[in-house]
Amino acid sequence: MTDIKPENKPIDFGNWVPLKMIVVPAILGLACLGAGLRWWPLLIPAALFCAIAVYFAVARWLFSARGGNVQDRILELLLEHLPADAVGKVLDIGCGNGALAIKAAQRFPKAAVTGVDFWGKSWDYSIKVCEGNAAACGLSGRVDFRQGSAASLPFADGSFDLVISNLVFHEVRDAADKREPLREALRVLKPGGVFVLQDLFLLEPYFGTPQELQDTLRGWGAGRVEFIRTCDREFIPKWVKLPFMVGTLAILRGER
Ligand SMILES: C[S@@+](CC[C@H](N)C(=O)[O-])C[C@H]1O[C@@H](n2cnc3c(N)ncnc32)[C@H](O)[C@@H]1O
Repeated sequence: MTDIKPENKPIDFGNWVPLKMIVVPAILGLACLGAGLRWWPLLIPAALFCAIAVYFAVARWLFSARGGNVQDRILELLLEHLPADAVGKVLDIGCGNGALAIKAAQRFPKAAVTGVDFWGKSWDYSIKVCEGNAAACGLSGRVDFRQGSAASLPFADGSFDLVISNLVFHEVRDAADKREPLREALRVLKPGGVFVLQDLFLLEPYFGTPQELQDTLRGWGAGRVEFIRTCDREFIPKWVKLPFMVGTLAILRGER
C-alpha cells in the first residue's frame, strides 16, 4: 500500500463530555439565579444547575488533551489489552471521531480498520471529522467509516478478525437490553476472532454482575471471556469516578 502523505489538518478526537452538558445547566442555573433574586426558593435549583455545570466543565477539562488527558489514557488502556498483532479486518463500534479506529490502524499496519457509529445528535462527533482525522494521520486508505447502529450492525456474520469498542454499549438507546449490542459485536466476529470492549460494564442495572455478563457472552458463542476492571487505575481522577462517568469502567476481552 502506498504511503499517503499526512495532510496538514488538526486532529479532533472530541471530548466525552459534550459542550451542551455544561452550557444547558449553566443557562438554566443563571436563569434560576436571575428569577431567584425576586423569589428566593429558585436559588436552590440555581445552585444545583450551576454545580452540575461546574462538575461537567471540570470533567471535560480532565478528559481533554490540554487538561488531564484522561480520555487518551483510557483509550491507551484498551490498546494495551489488544493482541500483539492483528491482520485482516478490525471493527471499532461507536467510533465517535475515530480516535480508537485510528490508533488501532497505527498499531496494526497490516489491518484494514472500519469505524461504525450512528453519529446521533447527543454527541459532537461526525463521519466528516473521522475522515479528516484519518487523512491527517496519513491513514485515508486504511481506515473507513460507516454509519450504522451498534444495535443492528450493517455487516454480515463473521466479517471481522478483531472487534473493539470504547464507551458505547451503555449509550445504545435503540436496544432495550444494553447487552444485546454485545451479541451483535459477537455476531460480526469470525470464529476464532478476538474482541476487546471497554465500557461501563460494572453498571449492574444494565449488564448484570461481571459473572452473569461473562456467562451471557459464553452463551452467545464466546469461547473465553475475561473481565478486567479498568476503573481502578490510579490515573483516573476521583472526580470522574461516578458510575455514569468512568467509575464503572471495565474491559471484556475474549474470543469467539
Ligand atoms: C462516549 S462516546 C465514545 C466515542 C469513541 N468510542 C471514543 O472512545 O472516543 C459514545 C459514542 O457511542 C456512539 N453511539 C451511541 N449509540 C450508538 C448506537 N446505537 N450505534 C452506534 N454508535 C452509537 C455515539 O455516537 C458516540 O460516538
